Amino acid sequence: MPPFFTSKRFKTQALLSVFLLVSFLFLLFYTLYRIPSPSHTAPSRSRNDPAAAAHRRFLSLSAGANATIAAHLRELTRNPHLAGTPAASTVAAYVLSHFRVAGLETLTREYFPLLSYPAAASLSLLSAGGDLIKAFSLSEPADPEARTVPPYHAYSPTGSALAPAVYVGYGREEDYNELDRMGVSVRGCVAVVRSGRGYRGAAVERAALKGATAVVMFGTSGGGGVERGMVMLRGVGDPLTPGWAAEGGAGEGERLGFEDEEVRRRFPPIPSMPVAAATAAEILRTLGGPAVPREWREGLRLDASGVGPGPTLVNFTYQEDRRLAKIQNVFGLIMGREEPDRFVILGNHRDAWTYGAVDPNSGTAAMLDVARRLGILLRSGWRPRRTIVLCSWDAEEFGMIGSTEWVEQNLGNLGFKAVAYLNVDCAVQGPGFFAGATPQMDDLLFEVTKQIKDPDLEHKSVYETWVEENGGISIERLARADSDFSAFLHHAGVSAVDLYFGKASPVYHTTLDSFIWMEKHGDPLFHRHVTVAEIWGLLGLRLADDAVLPFSYLSYAGQLQDHTSALGALLDDGVSLQLINRSILELTAAANEVQEAVEKLREGETDDDHFGELQRRAFNDRLMLAERCFLEEEGLKRRRWFKHVVYAPPEDYECKLSFFPGIADALSQSKKISSMEATREVQHEVWRVARAIQRAASALRGHIAWSK
Ligand SMILES: *[C@@H]1O[C@H](CO)[C@@H](O)[C@H](O)[C@H]1NC(C)=O
Ligand SMILES: *[C@@H]1O[C@H](CO)[C@@H](O)[C@H](O)[C@H]1NC(C)=O
Repeated sequence: MPPFFTSKRFKTQALLSVFLLVSFLFLLFYTLYRIPSPSHTAPSRSRNDPAAAAHRRFLSLSAGANATIAAHLRELTRNPHLAGTPAASTVAAYVLSHFRVAGLETLTREYFPLLSYPAAASLSLLSAGGDLIKAFSLSEPADPEARTVPPYHAYSPTGSALAPAVYVGYGREEDYNELDRMGVSVRGCVAVVRSGRGYRGAAVERAALKGATAVVMFGTSGGGGVERGMVMLRGVGDPLTPGWAAEGGAGEGERLGFEDEEVRRRFPPIPSMPVAAATAAEILRTLGGPAVPREWREGLRLDASGVGPGPTLVNFTYQEDRRLAKIQNVFGLIMGREEPDRFVILGNHRDAWTYGAVDPNSGTAAMLDVARRLGILLRSGWRPRRTIVLCSWDAEEFGMIGSTEWVEQNLGNLGFKAVAYLNVDCAVQGPGFFAGATPQMDDLLFEVTKQIKDPDLEHKSVYETWVEENGGISIERLARADSDFSAFLHHAGVSAVDLYFGKASPVYHTTLDSFIWMEKHGDPLFHRHVTVAEIWGLLGLRLADDAVLPFSYLSYAGQLQDHTSALGALLDDGVSLQLINRSILELTAAANEVQEAVEKLREGETDDDHFGELQRRAFNDRLMLAERCFLEEEGLKRRRWFKHVVYAPPEDYECKLSFFPGIADALSQSKKISSMEATREVQHEVWRVARAIQRAASALRGHIAWSK
C-alpha cells in the first residue's frame, strides 16, 4: 500500500475500510474490464489471440488459390511489358485494379529515370580479306515473330568495331590469365564472352580494361532463347539522380549530365550485345590460335577451334536509344490500427524483359493472392497492428530503379518507421524453397515455414523439406544488389527477406519466360505459387501483428561471428580482429538481455504497469533500429550510396566475400598498394565494422554506453 495512506493523518478505521472497499472495487473492475494486453498474448501466440486467429484464417484461404493465381499470371503475361513501354501501363493498371478489388487503399508513384533501349544493331563475319562470310540475324531463334524486344544490353553505349574476335571464356580475371599464358591478348579485338559466371556488366567492363573494343556475349541455356539484361555498373537506381528521386520530366528536377564523372562510371566504356549460342559458335569455329580450354568448350562443339585472335573479322555495330521514360510504382495499403506509423513492406517488381512469367510475375501473381486474403481478413473486422504496404515496382530490370527512387525519396520516413522489407522477385522457377534474410529474421523464417505445407510433398512442412534437401538450410545474406531489397537494406538499413522456389531459371530473361513454360515446367499445378503467398503473407502478418517484433539478434551475433572467423582465415597477421570480436560479444550480451525481457513477457511476469504500450513501442524500436546501426553515414569508400557495412555487394564483382563489403574492398585494393598502407586500410575497415556492431549492441540495449 502506498505510504501516503498509512500516514498518521489517516489512521481511522472508517477511512481505511472505505479505502479498502474502493480499492477492491477498483481492482475488480480493472480485472474484469481492462483490455487484454497484447504483450501477454502475442508472444505466446495463444489460441484466443485475435491476431493469431486472423493468421490461421489467412492460411485457410488456400482452396482454389492456385487457379486464381494461374489466372492472374496468364493475364499479367499476355504481352511483353518492358518498363517504359505502353504495355507496361496495362500491367500496372491490372495490379492496381486487383489491389482495389481486394479492398486495399491504392496509391501510385511515377518517376522519370534514364532507361535504355536498342535502336539498331548488326553483326557479321568477314574473311581476313574483308569479304562477307555471313550477316547474322540478331533476333531470338525462339521468337521468330519478334514480339519481344530484340536481345540487347541496356545501357550499352553506342559503338562499332571491325576487328578479329578472341574467345575469352567467361571473361573473369582467371580467364584472361589463361589467355596470357597462351600468349593471346584481346587488345583491339572483339571479345566473345560466355555468360553464366558472374555479372554480365562486370564481364564487359573487364573486357574493356583488357583493351577489347566490343563484347559479344552468349549463353548456353538452350531452347533458342537469348538472355537480355542491363550492364550498368557500380550501383542501382537511376544513374542521373544518385541519392535522390528521379522526379519530373526532362528539364524539371535535378539531374546529373552524361559528362559527369559519377554518371560515366555507371556505364561500360565499350558496347556489348547478347547473341544466340549458335551465332557465337559460328564465329568461334572460324578462330585459329591456341586451342580452346576444355572448360570454355563444354556443350559447344569447338574441338578444332582456337581462341583467336582471328583470322576472320567481326563487324559489330550497336546504336543505343537512351531516354527519360515514365515508370510507375503501384501500392496497396492497409493502415495499422495501433501503430499506423510502423511499416511492414512487401515488394515485387512488375516490369519484365519479355513476358515475365517467372521473372517477375510469378511473384506478382502471388502478391495479388496475398492482397486477396488480406482483403478477406479486413472485411471480417481484422486490422493489423502496424501498417502493411504492398509494393509493385517498375523498372527493376534496368537496375532496381522503381524501388530505389522510392526509397531515396522516402528515406527519412523509412529510416524511422520501416520494420522490415519482404521481397519476392521470381517466386517460382522450379522446385525447392530458398530464402535470403538479414539474420534477426532467421527464427521467424523457421517458425513460419514450419506452419506451411510443402507444395510438392505430402505430410511435410516447407521447413522439413528445406532442412532435408538442397544440402540443408542455408540462408543467403543479401549482399547482392540484383533485386529490389537492395535500396532498403544497403542504403536505408531496413531488415530484409527474399523468398523463391527453384534454384535458377533456364528461361532467364529470354522470350521463353512465358505462361506456357510456367504451366509446363515451372509449376504445373501452381501449388508452389500458393506456398510463396502463404509464407510471404504470414511473415508479413507476424511482423505487422506481433506485439513484440519477432526479431532475434542472437542469430545476427552468431552469423557475425562466423563471418569474422571466415575473414580471419583470409587476413595476414598485421590485422587485428580483436575489436570486432569484442563488439560481437557485446551484441550477444545485448541480444541475450532482450531475449530474457521477451521471455519474461511470455511468462507474464511483467504486467502492463511496467510494460505499457509506450514502453513496448520503445522496446520494438530497439529491435527495429539495431539494423540501422550497421549503416555508416559517409558510406563505403568510392561508392558512398552503399552504407551498410555488414551486407552490401563488394566493389570487385569477382570478390568471393559476401559480407563486410568495406573490408572486402580494402582487401581487393591491397593488391595495388604497398603492404603497410594496405594493412592500415584493411584495419581501418575492420574498425568501422566493429564500431557499427557496437552501435547495434547499444541500440539493442536501449541505453547510452557510459564508462564504468
Ligand atoms: C559493317 O556493318 C555496317 C552496318 O551494317 C556496314 O555499314 C559496314 O559497311 C560494314 N563494314 C564492312 C567492312 O563490311
Ligand atoms: C489446382 O490444384 C488442384 C488440386 O491439386 C488441381 O486439380 C488443379 O488442376 C490446379 N489448378 C491449376 C490451375 O493448376
